[in-house]
Amino acid sequence: MGNDNKPLNHLAIIMDGNGRWAKKRHLPRFMGHRQGMDNIRKIALEANRLGIKVLTLYAFSTENWARPSDEVNYLMRLPIDFFDKFMPELQENNVRVNIMGFSDNLPEKTYEVTQKAIKQTASNTGMVLNFAFNYGSRAEIVNAVQKIAKKVQDGEINASQIDEQMVSDNLLTENLKPYTDPDLLIRTSGEERLSNFMLWQLAYSEFEFTDKFWPDFTVDDLDKMIADYQKRERRFGKV
Ligand code: IPE
Ligand code: IPE
Ligand code: MG
Repeated sequence: MGNDNKPLNHLAIIMDGNGRWAKKRHLPRFMGHRQGMDNIRKIALEANRLGIKVLTLYAFSTENWARPSDEVNYLMRLPIDFFDKFMPELQENNVRVNIMGFSDNLPEKTYEVTQKAIKQTASNTGMVLNFAFNYGSRAEIVNAVQKIAKKVQDGEINASQIDEQMVSDNLLTENLKPYTDPDLLIRTSGEERLSNFMLWQLAYSEFEFTDKFWPDFTVDDLDKMIADYQKRERRFGKV
């Protein structure tokens, strides 16, 4: 969507504030996560309706393992419930699922359902719903450096051949080409930080913040932020 100098192909959202949403209502944190999961549905459908090509949602960070184990276990169950509940609608809307993150230390069942969702939607040609799940940007960059270093070590390339494109091609967003880098980043809940999210890819993205907690974030809020984004001037270092 959008005009030529302000396309909105890739929208990324740091879905934050589930715990505080619950706390405000004297509910346990997991109920905030439940409500947050349900909120993904209408935001994703709206993004799809607007013609956005990639919607990346930060759902679980590599740092979130440090939370109490009850909460981590609950968060690891959410993909199971999410795809159980919403897969038919994702299919109807031609949405393709992608998971961006480390899969080696996920519980088996969680890994299985995410792989299944990717397979089931692989031939869909609409929006890519890209879950950043067990994702951390520093680990992603370390991983890319290791892969590139290996190529140098094996004599496949010279160090001087390493360029920005090569680094980009070795990140976890490689399969989102040509929409690897978000045009717009939204973070809910009033926090204004990246929390280890897409450090490379966000180099020239526009940012929008709202005090609303993720479960309260509406389609209307999204539309307003996008309208605001459309009014901005993206200069990319030029005049
Ligand atoms: C975002 O909500 C969801 C995850 C990080 C998994 P939080 O759980 O961070 O909610 P707050 O920030 O504690 O309110
Ligand atoms: C970022 O939120 C991660 C996700 C939204 C999944 P956090 O709540 O974990 O980030 P911090 O701890 O406030 O930086
Ligand atoms: Mg948080």
